Amino acid sequence: MVCKIGADPSALQGSLKPCRVLESAPNGFTWQRIMKLGIDPNKNILRAFPTFVGQFDVPNAAQVNPILEKVILARESSAEGKSKSNIGGWHSDIDFHEWPEVKQTDIVDSFYSAVSNMVAMSAMAQKFNLKCHFVSWANVNRKGSHNAVHNHCNAHWSGVYYVRTPEYDTDDLDRAGDLTFYDPRGAVNMMAHPGKCVDGESIRIKPIQGRIVLFPSWLYHSVYPFQSDIVRISVAFNARVEQFSEL
Ligand SMILES: [Fe+2]
Repeated sequence: MVCKIGADPSALQGSLKPCRVLESAPNGFTWQRIMKLGIDPNKNILRAFPTFVGQFDVPNAAQVNPILEKVILARESSAEGKSKSNIGGWHSDIDFHEWPEVKQTDIVDSFYSAVSNMVAMSAMAQKFNLKCHFVSWANVNRKGSHNAVHNHCNAHWSGVYYVRTPEYDTDDLDRAGDLTFYDPRGAVNMMAHPGKCVDGESIRIKPIQGRIVLFPSWLYHSVYPFQSDIVRISVAFNARVEQFSEL
């Protein structure tokens, strides 16, 4: 018996081999295995509507982070913070990339490079001219600070760079103020299913010092309450593609 997989087998353009049916009844079947795949998943199964989330380690983070930490904490002590998605914590103006001390480092170039990588992936292009509208801001979180579920309007790509984070065990996500992404596919979480492909579980990313996490601006996300006694410092940014031409 050929397994019923809810799709036209001929559309998969592979060979579907029989599997062993352990039990059959009017209400359904129990299979020993779903199917013996005679198809190449990479060739025959289309990953429709993928969501790209990039993670990039900044090579000179160890040198640049102490500089950023100093300038961000100095700004925090002299400027009133903004109230955005942050619950508690300090959120700077959106001109971080224009601060003179920041311009003396190449950290913003790393942000541009990360955005370029995401555009390259999306456009499937190797060489191109790219012009983006760019804004960035610094965040200082202390114990209890968190960010409500939100996305970033008026941008294509958003990112966060971790200047200072606690060093916890990899399982201790709650204390580190992990970044949580929510599955954007509507009611995909209506039914549990093995794996994340059609389950709808959220994805939690542990903040790593010196790392950029980059994602589509429309993707809903939040930050778990930060529980450490140390200060947590990050920089967030938005990039809106305004011109793109492949070379
Ligand atoms: Fe955000």
